[in-house]
Amino acid sequence: MSSQQKILQEKIQDRSANVVVLGLGYVGLPLAVIFAEAGFKVIGVEPDQSKVDILMTGESYVQDVHSDKLTKLVNSGNLKATTDFSILAGADAVSICVPTPLRKTGDPDLSYILDATDEMAKYIHPGVVVVLESTTYPGTTREILLPKLTENSGLTVGEDFFLAFSPERVDPGREDWTTYNTPKVIGGITPACSDLASFWYQQALETVVPVSSAESAEMAKLLENTFRMINIGLVNEMAIMCDRLGLDVWEIIDAAATKPFGFMKFTPGPGLGGHCIPIDPLYLSWKLRALNYTARFIDLASEINTGMPRYVVNKVQDALNEQGLPLKGSKVLVIGAAYKPDVDDIRESPALDIIGLLLQKGAKVNYHDPYIPTIFHEDWSLESVPNLIESAGNADCAVIVTDHTVYDYDQVLERTPLIVDTRNALGDAGKGDERVVRL
Ligand SMILES: NC(=O)c1ccc[n+]([C@@H]2O[C@H](COP(=O)([O-])OP(=O)(O)OC[C@H]3O[C@@H](n4cnc5c(N)ncnc54)[C@H](O)[C@@H]3O)[C@@H](O)[C@H]2O)c1
Repeated sequence: MSSQQKILQEKIQDRSANVVVLGLGYVGLPLAVIFAEAGFKVIGVEPDQSKVDILMTGESYVQDVHSDKLTKLVNSGNLKATTDFSILAGADAVSICVPTPLRKTGDPDLSYILDATDEMAKYIHPGVVVVLESTTYPGTTREILLPKLTENSGLTVGEDFFLAFSPERVDPGREDWTTYNTPKVIGGITPACSDLASFWYQQALETVVPVSSAESAEMAKLLENTFRMINIGLVNEMAIMCDRLGLDVWEIIDAAATKPFGFMKFTPGPGLGGHCIPIDPLYLSWKLRALNYTARFIDLASEINTGMPRYVVNKVQDALNEQGLPLKGSKVLVIGAAYKPDVDDIRESPALDIIGLLLQKGAKVNYHDPYIPTIFHEDWSLESVPNLIESAGNADCAVIVTDHTVYDYDQVLERTPLIVDTRNALGDAGKGDERVVRL
């Protein structure tokens, strides 16, 4: 064990290590809270001044982090936020939790990782451990972060400083599996990096799962999310096939799910959403393309999933047609805009494509979502209607895109003249009702 490793391990053990989290979003803020609760002094560096200002009042802007918990940590001085990257000079342990979106071309956008690493490189010093949490393609930590952190510093990784990757697995809105108790995979650039990063995270999280390298940790995350994306693609295609066959896909899924082994239930829907599932597998296929390999399962599932909003809009058009109404000029209410139930996150939500397509076809579109008061899109912007049931009653057709649990579906069913239910939110009540078209 190098002397730097020993010193740092002691600082982590006695909680004198200064922890810094770069990026205080859906991932970084809960992580900062967990470290602060474990007794570390934590500073979050966040370029968005408005987030810093809100946080320093003890208010939370992330649904999964309760304000009362945050207030206590901020008041005790254990959790602070700043826009000033120079505090990295005094950091002992740094987690990088910045976004990894796609460019318009569909290629990975590593600009946030590059910017955060450049800041880290300015202040890199002996005796610091750096962990990248942002989802990315295998090789990013070694090929992108490592050279930037070593080229001007002359430091040796695994001896002077330590570098690892640990994918975040948070599932926003979930209360049984949280940042604290969801097992955390960690892989370092060297064995010493794995050991030290694991030791740090073990102080604050219930279970740490060390793997042999940063690349294994990066790839494990992509396997998890690719697995979900492909299974959702499969079940979406099942819905399309059942429709052609005149079969009820929901009944068939429930029947298959009675098998006690070898089957995992996935449900169809209006398309993929969120920051992870639609995007992460494309990081993997992009990397493989550079190695002359086509990730066929990913491409196929992506094609099916991205086609779902158009499929849903066709269902709306057909349902209106049955009533003798053209889509153009008809009043369509989109129920739920978030990418999944009970969250306030609209990133990549299929509701955006569905609303856009409906508008393109000349429908008069409104939406309701208790968690998304307004949507600003490149080509359009809308405000959530205040009263769901009243608007449902006034619409020619409603399309249930997000099955929030707060909705009173009995009332929606009672008051709406025509419904396309993409989530089986109405359940058995919608089955056999001629006003309801199910996916
Ligand atoms: N949200 C999820 O459910 C989830 C789950 C698992 C993994 N992830 C992954 O975690 C990463 C972060 O996702 P998120 O949902 O927290 O994103 P987010 O957009 O909510 O938060 C990222 C934060 O980083 C800040 N930021 C941007 N550039 C920065 C820089 N140079 N230095 C410091 N901060 C910077 C942004 O202002 C923002 O507040 C992504 O790679 C994502 O794929 C997200």
